[in-house]
Amino acid sequence: VSLTLSTNEGNASSPLLYGFMIEDIDHSLDGGLHSQLLRNNGFQGKDPSLEAYAAVGNVVLGIDSINPVSKAITRSLKIDIPGGTTGQVGFSNEGYWGIEVREHTYNTSFWMKGSYSGNVTIKLVGVINGDEYASKTITVTSSDRSFQYFQTTLSARAASNGINVWTLTFDATKAAGKSLNFGLVQLYAPTYHSRWNGLKPELAAPLEDIKASFLRFPGGNNLEGASENDRWKWNETIGPLHTRPGRQGDWGYPNTDALGLMEYLYWCEDMKLVPVVSVWDGFALYHGGATPFTGTALEPYIDDVLNELEFILGDKSTPYGAIRARYGHHDPFRVKHVQIGNEDAHDSEGCRTYPERFTQFYNAIHKVYPDLILITSNPNPGCLPEHLPKGVWIDNHLYTHPDAMVKDFNYYDNLDRANPFVVLEYAISQYAPPNGTNIKWPYMQGSVAEAVYMIGMERNSDFVKMAAYAPLLAHLDYSTYTPNAISYRYSKSTIVFSTTYYVQKMFSSNRGDTISKLDSDTGFGPVYWVASKLENSSTYYVKLANYGADEQMLSVDIPGTLSGKLTVLSGGKDDYNSDLHPNTIEPTESDIKGEGGKFAFMLPAWSVAVIVLK
Ligand code: AHR
Repeated sequence: VSLTLSTNEGNASSPLLYGFMIEDIDHSLDGGLHSQLLRNNGFQGKDPSLEAYAAVGNVVLGIDSINPVSKAITRSLKIDIPGGTTGQVGFSNEGYWGIEVREHTYNTSFWMKGSYSGNVTIKLVGVINGDEYASKTITVTSSDRSFQYFQTTLSARAASNGINVWTLTFDATKAAGKSLNFGLVQLYAPTYHSRWNGLKPELAAPLEDIKASFLRFPGGNNLEGASENDRWKWNETIGPLHTRPGRQGDWGYPNTDALGLMEYLYWCEDMKLVPVVSVWDGFALYHGGATPFTGTALEPYIDDVLNELEFILGDKSTPYGAIRARYGHHDPFRVKHVQIGNEDAHDSEGCRTYPERFTQFYNAIHKVYPDLILITSNPNPGCLPEHLPKGVWIDNHLYTHPDAMVKDFNYYDNLDRANPFVVLEYAISQYAPPNGTNIKWPYMQGSVAEAVYMIGMERNSDFVKMAAYAPLLAHLDYSTYTPNAISYRYSKSTIVFSTTYYVQKMFSSNRGDTISKLDSDTGFGPVYWVASKLENSSTYYVKLANYGADEQMLSVDIPGTLSGKLTVLSGGKDDYNSDLHPNTIEPTESDIKGEGGKFAFMLPAWSVAVIVLK
């Protein structure tokens, strides 16, 4: 395959093209990216249990809703201490299936109620060997009247594995025959950018390496809720943690919402991501077959979104802007993109009512914030207003098998360009026919197919403004949805970077601002390509995908360039990285020298490559 820089000018490329979609799915946030390490700490959600807790010593644990920690945290842990008990007793929390203990200073805290005056000891302890990695004793005085907050630090040495628990014990002789209550226990390691209540650096760093441009949050299905009451409610995700009630998430577990609206927006600031805020549009996940809210019934929810936007964008003199300022962010956040709902076309009632609901939201938001870019939840003309206002962006999701995704390589070439497109979720989720089953791990053929689709989007990125692979993160000990770009497990200190993660990183971190046309001696397939140039430098980026079983000789001719760096990801068609074999496929880098701007190299079978030429 021979590619030569064309003398014809290429189109502009969206500066936002590659980004993230995040929602709390499979503990991607609670127990994943969020840095609080203890699980079930507020007994939130529909059906709380003692999951993650165990008694230490001769005591009985129970969940107590008569003694709530606060108005929002409506339950606490009750510990009955039998008469005559002596020694240290209390409870442990195993975190998210293990706590990885590193050489860090940890912040830890708890709420306590009950008549007690004496020592409380907090430790990080190995389950297998009983080793103590950290221990701190503080003196407390608590009473029966109300919960009190206690906080301290723990200096830890590194544990040999992640099978560790946090324990809290007290002197049984001082509480024998009584009960004590504890609530909202917390443990934080140092955070990304040292943010209070921030992100885990070991997961934030590989995300930062992708050099993404935007973050869509908070979902996905997890925005929607099983009913309107279970939807993600922005105003219950802000403020002190004991004022956030959490909710039953849509992926089978309670969400603490400790990573809430402001934490998403701080994440955007710290990683230089443009926020895409998705708002609830009257359509819940139809577990009960309820009708979406329309007309006057929708109005309170539209008001709620306007309040959320005032909280984000209003200055300090506005009621909600003042709350944001009080919580520490004096200036408005920079938000320019708001998405109305999620995947409303997936349900016939959702589809039927979306045109009306979208229009109601559009009119209300556009009136107050005419500069905001509003994004639809679906691309289906039958589920959109007949005349979509100019400036509205259309979201198209694609979960499919590799052959089908490759077929969509030129999907964006011929679409009507009146309204730009975004692809805020896509992934290879199945094997190609005849197998056709859902996949557990991103694998080479699938990741090459994603690269082909990304090349198709990048070629059209004057019109395709944003694209995000989903889901991004998953905990391996709570896996309901696969595949995911990055997976992890703390008990074994494992992080798996999938073939898809590497493709995202290679494509997103190597971007020009203008697409450069390439002349070729052959058509697309099995090799696909796109080139771009940084306007104010002589750097070119050429992205390639070989969706085929044969290696291909490539010649790339870009006059004026002298040397380049070639990054290649390749492997057997069905090869993948997993928890058992996390490093099967990794990108390789090499320098390539050109002669008179001509570079020749072999593109392996089933591969994705990027060359940066200067
Ligand atoms: O990415 C997983 C789910 O797939 C999202 O929550 C939903 O929007 C889509 O159907």
